[in-house]
Amino acid sequence: MKGLILAGGAGTRLRPITHTSAKQLVPVANKPILFYGLEAMVHAGIVEIGVIVGDTRAEVMAALGDGSTWGAKITFIPQDAPLGLAHCVLIAEEFLGGDDFVMYLGDNLLEQDLGAFVRSFETARHEFNPPMAQILLKKVPDPHRFGIAELDADGNVVNLVEKPENPPSDLALVGVYLFDPMIITAVKSIQPSPRGELEITDAIQWLVDQGMRVSQEELSGWWIDTGKLTPLLEANRLLLEKIETRLDGVIDEFSTIDGRVIVEAGATVVRSTIRGPVAIGAGAIIVDSFIGPFSAIGALCEVRNSEVEHSVIMEASKIIEIARLEDSLIGKDVVVNRTQAKPRALRLMVGDHCQIDVE
Ligand code: DAU
Repeated sequence: MKGLILAGGAGTRLRPITHTSAKQLVPVANKPILFYGLEAMVHAGIVEIGVIVGDTRAEVMAALGDGSTWGAKITFIPQDAPLGLAHCVLIAEEFLGGDDFVMYLGDNLLEQDLGAFVRSFETARHEFNPPMAQILLKKVPDPHRFGIAELDADGNVVNLVEKPENPPSDLALVGVYLFDPMIITAVKSIQPSPRGELEITDAIQWLVDQGMRVSQEELSGWWIDTGKLTPLLEANRLLLEKIETRLDGVIDEFSTIDGRVIVEAGATVVRSTIRGPVAIGAGAIIVDSFIGPFSAIGALCEVRNSEVEHSVIMEASKIIEIARLEDSLIGKDVVVNRTQAKPRALRLMVGDHCQIDVE
């Protein structure tokens, strides 16, 4: 079985962060989203992995390298324009070489291990009328935002529709799919959708329409499509909830560490309170500050005389004299600086390399 990770696309909903960098590389709990999917694949025993890359290919390729850090062998597959998830399958045909594969959307995060999902497909492949695809479903409160599956009374997949105005069910397609190579024939048989994309939901529907079996499983555990600010902060919260304390940096005697906190090697905490769960990246400096629950402070950041809570601050950014920064996503190499009085809470989403002076 091979793996196909989709790390192209436009990322319009996380602008301005994704003006300058790939949405799949935004960190949660101080690790790029994309790495979680890659690790889940390798953990499930899949090491031959194709990665679809778009405009942000240089950054994605630099972050993943040849995959050997994870024990994987990565092949990058460039996509000239984000023409749809099924288009990604089409251009990966040569890499896939007629093998079964798991397709993983690079901006999705799942709590559940992939191993059991992969094994149940492999087992079903030996059954009479084996499935040509296996999808993972999760009940959602806002089905119009996702691909939606309709099942019959026996749990068979009968209908799939992409972001419907009138959803036929509340079962969303999670961004992890298992496919027989028959899906290549399917993606070659469909037409672009009204939004101009070759939809993977339409390709799976094509399999159903040909009388082929598409099996499904309902996901246990949480699942987050991180494409927007609120789910991204939620993913950060859920992953920080799982960390174990590790204090490899320098913490002075005037500082307090409460709860589960990671302070990476080379980080320094001076006269500050860190109330976990919190992750502080390598080389970061925290001085005279309060870092509250569910904050991830990236490598080489500097926080001085400030309060930060429930926020993701990407590497090399500076938060200086900010009375309170909460529910925020701050890009790389940003300066948020209070030049004058009036303490108040800030909620910000700031792209890379910006400077904000709060007056
Ligand atoms: O998150 C689950 C949902 O993902 C499913 O419920 C939908 O059925 C499915 O279509 C997809 O919807 P999104 O609108 O969220 O897909 P998005 O455009 O965000 O793309 C998902 C990932 O695939 C993202 O990491 C970017 C990448 N991608 C996307 C397109 C359209 C590519 O690499 N190339 C592309 O052409």
